[in-house]
Amino acid sequence: MAALTFTLEHTDNSSKARAGTITTDHGQIATPIFMPVGTIGSVKAVTQQQLKDEIGAQIILGNTYHLYLRPTTAVIEAAGGLHRFNGWHKPILTDSGGYQVFSLAENRKLTEEGALFQSHIDGSRHLFTPENVMDIQRSIGADIVMAFDECPPYPSDYTYAKKSMDLTHRWLDRCFTRFNSTEDKYGYTQNLFPIVQGSTYEDLRVASCKYIASKEAAGNAIGGLSVGEPEAMMYDLTQRCTENLPYDKPRYLMGVGTPWNILECISLGVDMFDCVMPTRNGRNGMLFTTKGVINIRNKKWATDFSVIDDGLQCETSNYYSKAYLRHLFVADEILGLQIASIHNLAFYLWLVGEARKHITAGDFQAWKTSTIEVLKQRL
Ligand code: GUN
Repeated sequence: MAALTFTLEHTDNSSKARAGTITTDHGQIATPIFMPVGTIGSVKAVTQQQLKDEIGAQIILGNTYHLYLRPTTAVIEAAGGLHRFNGWHKPILTDSGGYQVFSLAENRKLTEEGALFQSHIDGSRHLFTPENVMDIQRSIGADIVMAFDECPPYPSDYTYAKKSMDLTHRWLDRCFTRFNSTEDKYGYTQNLFPIVQGSTYEDLRVASCKYIASKEAAGNAIGGLSVGEPEAMMYDLTQRCTENLPYDKPRYLMGVGTPWNILECISLGVDMFDCVMPTRNGRNGMLFTTKGVINIRNKKWATDFSVIDDGLQCETSNYYSKAYLRHLFVADEILGLQIASIHNLAFYLWLVGEARKHITAGDFQAWKTSTIEVLKQRL
């Protein structure tokens, strides 16, 4: 089996947008791509069949932090890896747990060695190190595994941001040493992606990109963004990073974002995205559609019997009416959460698929500008 490869097929003339193909041992991914988040090995309220057949997902995410705590590494290893455990036989990426330790766990303590924390589930104490996080991700068996990093909060002062970035870089060396001295467990090749940090400081971002690029990894990620900084700052820093990361490797912007964030960052040269927004906001009744944003709980939809979104190919979006979905939400019926999640994910996959088509056709910038205007409308 082979390491991940990336082929660039089209680059946009009027922006940095690209269309390409990532090839993994679990199949190909057409980029730019959105990756649905399946924190505990499940994309909330959505089945693997729906992901594949209705949504058109090509790769999903899992989280090391959650999977390690529950069902535990031992159970996943006994199943023969996460693909066999959850029945998703296309590519999987796992985040390293660093970010989740800082957003979810209690009593965290950061040292040179790693991160000490207490489980948000039962309060038990654990230590994550670059080494054991690589070992856990070997056992989970994702096609793409992320380096163990620290995502500094926003705002962070320069001294803290630099100290944190240097620590992330030292941890990265330890990640590569451990990863390269251990083997794939399930007969296919896993790939380690490093993560750029550096908070909001352009010189740190550039330094981090150079350090990360020197690792010559199969792909590279940009972390530490969309953590509360203004949108314009996020775009500027993303651009700094895409300018300084390898051109011929996929670039993954972690945890971003709204549909318009995704289109803007595609135009800056990002290839891969993930975000909880389509599923989390969907469960709160916020729908992203090809005509604009809908709050499905709003009374105005009570007797609107038109389908959720006729602009998508998705069977669910084309079948149920807005009035019916509103009724499900108002009545707290779990089917509502399922329909909203499927629809929003289908929309995000449609969005990146359309972006890819327009990059290939050569009219991406014009399409992006007019599309963002429509998508941002509140209906
Ligand atoms: N998800 C969103 N941002 C980040 C980040 O900076 N690091 C990691 N590991 N995951 C993230």
